[in-house]
Amino acid sequence: MSKNEHFVIAIDGPASSGKSTIAKNLARKLDCIYIDSGAMYRAVGLFIRENNVDVDAEKKVKEKLPEISIRIENAKDGATNIVFLNEVNVTEQIRQPIISQYASIVAKYGSVRKKLVQLQRKIAQKQSVVMDGRDIGTVVFPNADFKFFITASSKERANRRWKEIKDKGEKKSYEQVLQELKGRDKRDSSRQIAPLRKPHDAIEIDTTNLTIGEQTQILYEKIKEKLAR
Ligand code: DC
Repeated sequence: MSKNEHFVIAIDGPASSGKSTIAKNLARKLDCIYIDSGAMYRAVGLFIRENNVDVDAEKKVKEKLPEISIRIENAKDGATNIVFLNEVNVTEQIRQPIISQYASIVAKYGSVRKKLVQLQRKIAQKQSVVMDGRDIGTVVFPNADFKFFITASSKERANRRWKEIKDKGEKKSYEQVLQELKGRDKRDSSRQIAPLRKPHDAIEIDTTNLTIGEQTQILYEKIKEKLAR
């Protein structure tokens, strides 16, 4: 793909399936930007928590939305996302496990999704993107040039997440991580609006037994294959 061509690559899948690492690697290989749509839901979740808003009350969350401004800056490599919430850099803060839970709850609300989908579409108007999330191929960009759905067994995903948490020096049992992941999967897939679902025209890739390098290469080959047709 050339730099002048405009394209959208949608990558969806459950938490810790490997989609964001693949998406970042692809963005570097294809010389475009990567957008982590989950970071936007996390930023909303962070705002709601910091302002002591009852996260379970959609009306209260909705009322706060006009006070929330989210901006994603791409570092020079195009792949590293720096997330700003009302112009404050919250890139690290939004990764706290408690914010994962808040993000998953606010993501159920139509008002929140409407605001963030608008922002996601606006970003892709100006430039080619690889965007990952839960509804990118189904709702945000139903006409995306490429759609992928990345999966892995829940045990493998919990294991990856647990290792990440351990590397950060946090203490949490594998069992607890697995239960939280399953809870989030359930919430993300069973919500009424834009649930996590494989787009009918997406290529599904199970990363359970693949290295990061292999995962990226598979997607890259699929993109090249389609372009060569
Ligand atoms: O990808 P992530 O774990 O950072 O996403 C955080 C939460 O945001 C996740 O539980 C579901 C939600 N989300 C969503 O509903 N739609 C998206 N496009 C991206 C994330």
